[in-house]
Amino acid sequence: MKMTIKPFMSVFVCGLLLLASCTNEVLPNQEQLSQSSKGAAEEKQMASGKVIYESNCAGCHNSNVAGAPTPGDKADWTERMAQGVNAMTKKSIEGFEGKKGVMPPKGGNSVLTDEELLNAVSYMVKISQ
Ligand code: HEC
Repeated sequence: MKMTIKPFMSVFVCGLLLLASCTNEVLPNQEQLSQSSKGAAEEKQMASGKVIYESNCAGCHNSNVAGAPTPGDKADWTERMAQGVNAMTKKSIEGFEGKKGVMPPKGGNSVLTDEELLNAVSYMVKISQ
């Protein structure tokens, strides 16, 4: 039994990775975002942000690794959110060292675009409010 589970697991993991990289590529561009209504644009941004977050940021942020603020942890987010989404996005793109630890540039995935970071940060803020 053990012999058959392993290859299955790696096929499954590969499938997940493929899925994550595909969804990364169908992000709406800025023009499409401004054409649609505000609500629909926000919905798209949240959907894209969730995918980016789960495949690039959750590794640290879901479990407070190295002091990464967990989305929904109001005590850890209130002060951070006061600076605004754009300032937080800029720091996430460039990386920074805070009181708790080091946030690597783009969470360590240099292929992410600024817009993808903005979507992920917007998603984190939304679920932390
Ligand atoms: C290697 C672990 C790690 C990964 C991966 C990671 N982060 Fe972080 N992040 C941190 C740590 C640690 C902090 C807190 C640093 C501090 O305040 O001392 C942080 C803080 C933040 C903050 C708060 C910024 C502020 O001004 O307080 C945002 C927003 C953020 N990360 C976004 C992201 C996004 C978006 C991703 C994925 C693209 C990501 N992080 C991936 C470790 C990580």
